[in-house]
Amino acid sequence: AIISLRQLLDHAAEHGYGLPAFNVNNMEQVKAIMEAAAAVDAPVILQGSAGARTYAGEPFLRHLVLAAVEMYPHIPICMHQDHGASPSVCVRAIQSGFSSVMMDGSLLEDMKTPSSYEYNVEVTRKVVDMAHACGVSVEGELGCLGSLETGKAGEEDGHGAAGELDHSQLLTDPEEAADFVKKTKVDALAIAIGTSHGAYKFTRKPTGKVLRIDRVKEIHARIPNVHLVMHGSSSVPEEWAVMINQYGGDIGQTYGVPVEEIVEGIRHGVRKVNIDTDLRIASYGAMRKFMAEDRKNFDPRKLYKEAQKAMTSICTARYEAFGAAGQA
Ligand code: G3H
Ligand code: 13P
Ligand code: NA
Ligand code: ZN
Repeated sequence: AIISLRQLLDHAAEHGYGLPAFNVNNMEQVKAIMEAAAAVDAPVILQGSAGARTYAGEPFLRHLVLAAVEMYPHIPICMHQDHGASPSVCVRAIQSGFSSVMMDGSLLEDMKTPSSYEYNVEVTRKVVDMAHACGVSVEGELGCLGSLETGKAGEEDGHGAAGELDHSQLLTDPEEAADFVKKTKVDALAIAIGTSHGAYKFTRKPTGKVLRIDRVKEIHARIPNVHLVMHGSSSVPEEWAVMINQYGGDIGQTYGVPVEEIVEGIRHGVRKVNIDTDLRIASYGAMRKFMAEDRKNFDPRKLYKEAQKAMTSICTARYEAFGAAGQA
């Protein structure tokens, strides 16, 4: 059944676990996630970006989710709009049957330029008013995602603020978070604590702590009833990146967010963990390997099946690590 983000994350908070929110664009991704969730009995958050709606087309994206609900009637599923750039994007998602929307007012509509606090409050409050009237949850974002190591927002595939960010923008301020929640009434809040989007998060292998979990604690203490969200939470598993390169790809040396640090965030109030890059890397590695090794095959289903298996293995590992297994 389709349920709202608020319902899912209230349960996660009550039972002290976190939920990965995986980005979906096509059938193989949806099936990979659902298979993993069904195997470990975990609730599901599927999220679609504006890019996903452009790629699949609104009816296909909508029906993919409906198909998942029909195939897995016992698994609660939240369908979430990822990074809504404006209130109108969120309205379209609600019309499309999404049970949750993110109004990302931390950036202007170009999704590149950091916005003013007042702008963020205004657009987010507008979306909350509309969404709550429809029983749809809202995620807001305060602070700008960016690596504390490089000061960069994480680019490559076009989302996130461009170029270098002012260091103060890279960490969400707890007092401002409290004011933001009071003014907007969001259900969930994405915070900046040192993660960034895409594959290139850290240039050195993380030895100690790369995230500011102390900030998670401070923010959670100020707004205990708002579910905290970590974007840019791919761990960029080395074995899959290596596989891409081993079979003709060219991925630069890079490190993602260690799973243990996400787990620590979950211990201190993080409930939704956004992951897109990991599924991209794993599926790509599996496809390159398969194509290189079975050169006689020309049935694409065999190729897609390999991609799906790789993604399922990532999803299963995250459901288990985040404590979501057995919670559906
Ligand atoms: O943060 C955004 C997600 O990784 C979605 O990326 O806009 O390329 O679909 P996308
Ligand atoms: P990654 O690029 O780390 O997978 O983050 C995805 C994300 O935050 C989607 O909103
Ligand atoms: Na989101
Ligand atoms: Zn994101």
